[in-house]
Amino acid sequence: MNRTTIWNGMRRRIHMHEVGPRDGLQVEDVFVPTEDKIALVNALSDAGMAKIEVTAFVSPQAIPALRDAEIVLRQIQRRPGVVYTALVPNARGAERAIDAQADELNLVMSASESHNLANLRMTREQSFRALAEVATLARTAGTPINVSLSCAFGCPMEGDIAETVVLDWSRRFIEELGARGVTLCDTTGMAFPPQVAALTDAFQQRWRETELTLHFHNTRAMGLANVLAAIDAGASRFDASLGGIGGCPYAPGASGNVCSEDIVHALEWMGYDTGVDLDALLASARRLPALLGHDTPGQLVKAGARLDLHPRPENFEEIRQRALERGIRV
Ligand code: COA
Ligand code: ZN
Repeated sequence: MNRTTIWNGMRRRIHMHEVGPRDGLQVEDVFVPTEDKIALVNALSDAGMAKIEVTAFVSPQAIPALRDAEIVLRQIQRRPGVVYTALVPNARGAERAIDAQADELNLVMSASESHNLANLRMTREQSFRALAEVATLARTAGTPINVSLSCAFGCPMEGDIAETVVLDWSRRFIEELGARGVTLCDTTGMAFPPQVAALTDAFQQRWRETELTLHFHNTRAMGLANVLAAIDAGASRFDASLGGIGGCPYAPGASGNVCSEDIVHALEWMGYDTGVDLDALLASARRLPALLGHDTPGQLVKAGARLDLHPRPENFEEIRQRALERGIRV
């Protein structure tokens, strides 16, 4: 257990990675207009997110909602210090993302054979070979790669994925392809805290220099518990999405990511330093329902922060007087 919030006299830093513009928008029926996507990413930059997954360079037939990837990535305002990453499934996607000046390529593959076939139409070995090609393109361009391993905590078709399988794919990406980071993704909300703690710990014991990110979906309401379990095990980077939107179109039962503003609120009250301006994030979250045409799962936009107080009832004085009178009679 390591619930320390102060390290070397400073509040412990937790890096928040916003994935709403990619993981969130990819499952929406509406096409969010390009200028609104750009404004959303700019607002997330201003709010202080450490990394933003801006879009995905995938087949526009597969994910029409992100068919404007190039324009969005090219036209956002780049805030110094923020990493602008993009999801890439193959060499074609890598060429497009490098051309549009992504700061990082987020390669995607599933730890589950069934989910990899459903999502990417390839076996894991085929994906790995395609991603090795992507890694070569990235190295030539000088663009770092991160690898997102989907279904690392369980697959909705296969069940549990052995820890050794997840660690072995991580090893191949880190040691053979030179990935600077690995994201362990709980694509359909199957992770639970002791499992998260064990995998986070095993990963960090082996690769201390590699950036480890955890990506949880709140499908079974264990998202925050999983984030805390990972923090206790030493992790400091988390994917989350504004409003808690998101989900994988190729994973049965998938639903939203852990919600950025809810997680930031919780972590800040626990003493961690997320670097995020909660009010600015909430302002963006409030604009989401109008963009998407539906309500979002986030709770803070509905409830307010814990010290956003409400007025007392209008007849409060009357209530107090009556209470006092009753008190005299007793
Ligand atoms: N960018 C643009 N177009 C692409 C592309 C890319 N990265 N990858 C493939 N395409 C196009 C091909 O040009 C081809 O187009 P055409 O039919 O007009 O010739 C079409 O997509 C099919 O290409 P193919 O190589 O046969 O791929 P596929 O049908 O086996 O699809 C994927 C493989 C993974 C590229 C595709 O299914 C995809 O992009 N899926 C989205 C995965 C995703 O984002 N999931 C959610 C996030 S985890
Ligand atoms: Zn996801």
